[in-house]
Amino acid sequence: MSIDSYLDSGFDDVEGWCSRRIVEIMGHFTEMSTAAGVIGGACEIGVHQGKFFLGLVNAVNGRQSLAIDIFDHQSLNIDHSGGGINDMLAGFKANVQKYAPYPENVSEIVKDSLALNPLDTAHILGRFGPFQLFSVDGGHMHQHLVNDYHFAENVTAPGGAIIIDDILNGGFPGVIEGVARLFLQGAPRFAPLLLGHNKLIMVGLSYHRRYLEDLHARLAAAYPDMTMWRTKFFGHDIISLV
Ligand SMILES: C[S@@+](CC[C@H](N)C(=O)[O-])C[C@H]1O[C@@H](n2cnc3c(N)ncnc32)[C@H](O)[C@@H]1O
Repeated sequence: MSIDSYLDSGFDDVEGWCSRRIVEIMGHFTEMSTAAGVIGGACEIGVHQGKFFLGLVNAVNGRQSLAIDIFDHQSLNIDHSGGGINDMLAGFKANVQKYAPYPENVSEIVKDSLALNPLDTAHILGRFGPFQLFSVDGGHMHQHLVNDYHFAENVTAPGGAIIIDDILNGGFPGVIEGVARLFLQGAPRFAPLLLGHNKLIMVGLSYHRRYLEDLHARLAAAYPDMTMWRTKFFGHDIISLV
């Protein structure tokens, strides 16, 4: 299974919320960061049935990857983001068997992300190494966003990406509030690189400038008809897909 075959044969079958184009863009991002010497697995907080996660796992060629979700403990889903189905963990595992290149390389942690602690961080870093791709799509209150971002920052390679979902979803304003809190009350080590398809891609500050030009060129070549603007977000130059 590769990212193209997942998009051809699995993507439409897996319940969830993300566009096909953003999965493709993560493929381009991963090629670019791999060329910069960054090699790692994928992690997502808030996988639901694995729609976006399996795109990331395919992008990193099936390397050791981690899914964190409360799964069937939906009483912990205090903002009701993406719940509402039975046997969530079983459904997720079935999709991993079908659509991950190496299903044995995918692990799950069944846990409220707000309960992740420094021992979890150390254990995850020791077992998986820094991730190349980390998606934040669990609880959508500002407290979740700030908590989950900081967790991601500690376990993601500086040349990798942290992807924030629902950045511009009016149904979940806690996400943009959380991002505002990160930048106005702190000094995140990752900077915004691309805004589009309801996601914000952030990369380690030291990689931001070179990735901005490189990714822009790659996407312009792959999608000549796609409109890409350059604008600023919290003081950083970004590519904005309009
Ligand atoms: C919007 S869905 C994720 C969609 C998924 N990323 C996709 O590609 O379709 C949100 C997920 O976050 C999980 N979730 C909600 N609150 C959580 C929390 N506090 N900790 C961990 N996972 C949580 C839900 O169980 C649900 O699976």
